[in-house]
Amino acid sequence: MENNPFSLKNKRILITGASSGIGRAIAVECSKMGACVIITGRNEERLKATILEIGDDKVQYIIANFAKDDDVLALCNKIEDLDGLVNCAGLTKVLPFNFAKPSDFKEVMDVNFFAPAELTRLLLKAGKIRKKGSIVFISSISGVLCSAPAASIYSSSKGAVNGLVKGMALDLAPKGIRVNCVNPGMITTDIFSDGKIMQEQLKEDMKRYPLKRYGKPEEVAYSVIYLLSDASSWVTGSNLIIDGGYTLL
Ligand SMILES: NC(=O)c1ccc[n+]([C@@H]2O[C@H](COP(=O)([O-])OP(=O)(O)OC[C@H]3O[C@@H](n4cnc5c(N)ncnc54)[C@H](OP(=O)(O)O)[C@@H]3O)[C@@H](O)[C@H]2O)c1
Repeated sequence: MENNPFSLKNKRILITGASSGIGRAIAVECSKMGACVIITGRNEERLKATILEIGDDKVQYIIANFAKDDDVLALCNKIEDLDGLVNCAGLTKVLPFNFAKPSDFKEVMDVNFFAPAELTRLLLKAGKIRKKGSIVFISSISGVLCSAPAASIYSSSKGAVNGLVKGMALDLAPKGIRVNCVNPGMITTDIFSDGKIMQEQLKEDMKRYPLKRYGKPEEVAYSVIYLLSDASSWVTGSNLIIDGGYTLL
């Protein structure tokens, strides 16, 4: 399509957490919009499944475990210049606050907050994010607008991400680099596949959404495409809520 401000043609975009759920959908949908995507995650088989879905076996994939500082540095070293970065990798830990030890907070903060912050800093320091580049963090409504029982650890990590985005947006504006985050409500993915939250509980929870369902990974991906594209060229430091109306109530 001619003159499409949402196009990602000729843009090189790194997507973390692209081996599953929301990150995979972002990789697939960005690729459909013309981007050259580079994907990362821990699990090689799942990364390859993402590549299969994209349908281009030339897509570069890099294995990295964000619980390891060395992996974050090695990932940065393997990356060439980027127009976009999507920090999507993340995990949750369902634990009532009374049982949440510093080591539990650290486990989640390392992957949800410190690793994406450090990856972004290293890429910037190496001059690998081009002028007019766009950085997107996948945060959550949890920790920013609401929380849930036993979610204090996860909520803390996402609240921190939202704060980071605001500060980074100001610091990077002189370079013309934009920083935004997307705050989804519940999206159907594997994130709760450890079985700690029962399917019945999830079905009940779904009814609390005005649109009467959870979101789909691609519904988050479309908002990320907007933030990566030139269509959002005057948008920085914002958080885009994608939650089927949940936080209206
Ligand atoms: N699903 C929701 O309801 C929801 C709502 C709001 C926000 N989010 C956020 O959206 C993001 C993606 O979640 P999702 O629902 O798509 O979950 P998911 O299907 O479980 O995918 C999580 C992704 O993060 C990667 N990851 C986890 N730990 C990692 C580590 N130590 N090092 C490197 N990569 C790691 C996984 O890689 P491997 O496959 O290689 O392990 C996977 O690609 C997260 O930041 C999550 O907090 C999700």
